[in-house]
Amino acid sequence: MNQTLDLSLEDYKGLLDRSTELVLQQFERIEQLKGYHDFPQGEVEKWFDEPLPKTGMDASQLLDEVRQKVLQTATGNLGPHMYAYVMSGGNQMAIIAEKLATTINQNQTKWHLAPALNEIEKRVIQWTAELLDFPKDSGGVLISGGSAANLTGLTVARNIFFEKEGIRKKGLFGQKPFVVYASEEVHSCVDKSVELLGIGTNHLRKIATDAQFRIRLYTLKEQIQEDLKNGLHPFCLIGNAGTVNTGAIDDLDALADLAEKYQMWYHVDGAYGALAGILDSLTSEYRGMERADSIALDFHKWLYVPFEAGCTLVRSWDKLKRTYFKKAAYLDTELANDGNRLEYNEHYFQLSRNAKAFKVWMTIKAYGMDRIKAMIQKDIDLTQYLNDLVRDAEDFELVADSKLAVSCFRYIGKMTSREEIVEFNRRLMPQLEKDGRVFIMGTSLKGEYAIRACFINHRKTKATTAYLLRVIREVAHKMESKITSVI
Ligand SMILES: Cc1ncc(COP(=O)(O)O)c(C=O)c1O
Repeated sequence: MNQTLDLSLEDYKGLLDRSTELVLQQFERIEQLKGYHDFPQGEVEKWFDEPLPKTGMDASQLLDEVRQKVLQTATGNLGPHMYAYVMSGGNQMAIIAEKLATTINQNQTKWHLAPALNEIEKRVIQWTAELLDFPKDSGGVLISGGSAANLTGLTVARNIFFEKEGIRKKGLFGQKPFVVYASEEVHSCVDKSVELLGIGTNHLRKIATDAQFRIRLYTLKEQIQEDLKNGLHPFCLIGNAGTVNTGAIDDLDALADLAEKYQMWYHVDGAYGALAGILDSLTSEYRGMERADSIALDFHKWLYVPFEAGCTLVRSWDKLKRTYFKKAAYLDTELANDGNRLEYNEHYFQLSRNAKAFKVWMTIKAYGMDRIKAMIQKDIDLTQYLNDLVRDAEDFELVADSKLAVSCFRYIGKMTSREEIVEFNRRLMPQLEKDGRVFIMGTSLKGEYAIRACFINHRKTKATTAYLLRVIREVAHKMESKITSVI
């Protein structure tokens, strides 16, 4: 038996070359990539139904298996026909970054475990602060995604806000109930965070929104007043810098004023939209975001970095340290540190962390922010193009447009009753999934179902956008003809 798991350099090169071919094959077929492959769950489960291997298999056969079962069946995030959720297509430079980062297998726990990568993460945080108009010495951390980034922002909020009360030692025991405010359009990860932090969703006020799905400021003020009257403690106000449903951007400046007036922590969920704030065309929409105490954002959305790459930014490193620092003899590097090394283990919950900042750093350096801005603007312009196609079509209706890149609409065909239209569109969704040429989902807006298309892929074009509507129309016609033949 070999003394290590390694192959000879020559054999390994052969495998790497083969894996590079597989990467290139993905890009060769990119226009034709299906949105979704409708394999039954049981069939996919069977592909992987095998006993625990005791001996290894031939590596090139393994790559063949991967090609067949994983790569060729993958949901089409990479290509232009993905519109569901908020799935960006990734970028080529980040693929290279991931391969190189995994090769050196660094752990960003402590500065001396990964000196260059720790400095890169700090640099990415500085660049992010610059992009969002945050203080130059803001603190931040790269984490899995928007959900974790919101949880992190709210954890810092709770621990700093109630620091004098000794919350890290006493927990919530003995605290007067405190309240978090957000719009009814806030992402469900905020509900999860509030539960995890022991605040409880009874203390998350979901404030009604206006016709553009932005938080109603008057209703918010009334709710704060009522909570104060009832002896509750307003603690945190969350602004949406792009909701997941429609891309709505709350009045972030007015929210910052309110947070200041009632002395609340101001957190912004910018997981989807914060990076669109760098566009000249949207500057005024984002006014006030720079006043947040903490902000959650996702590089695996509008920086087109492959999963996972989220980020929480707060106004100083000190706030992260006061939230997370724990002394442990086996982690202590005090004597080796001249005071200039930033120890991430002292500023965040995780110890072992991979090099998420590396692919972000390589993405920004390779393309430059001007090109990335142009791609974000293209996503928004294509969304407007789809909205125009929908408005012009007699068999579709536009339900919500947005300043970002989400379009919500319905197929109406020749139907006249609202209930029938809403129900038809709900039933259309599984048919579109079966068809698989495009991958799209729906949502509920003010209680009514609509199709929702999210543009967050630099590989989309006007032609692929028109194709989306064509496919939906074709599948809808098929459904109509089935209904008619049943009648
Ligand atoms: C506004 C908003 N917040 C939070 C999230 C959660 O982000 P993630 O999926 O990266 O955890 C999303 C995801 O789409 C989002 O759009």
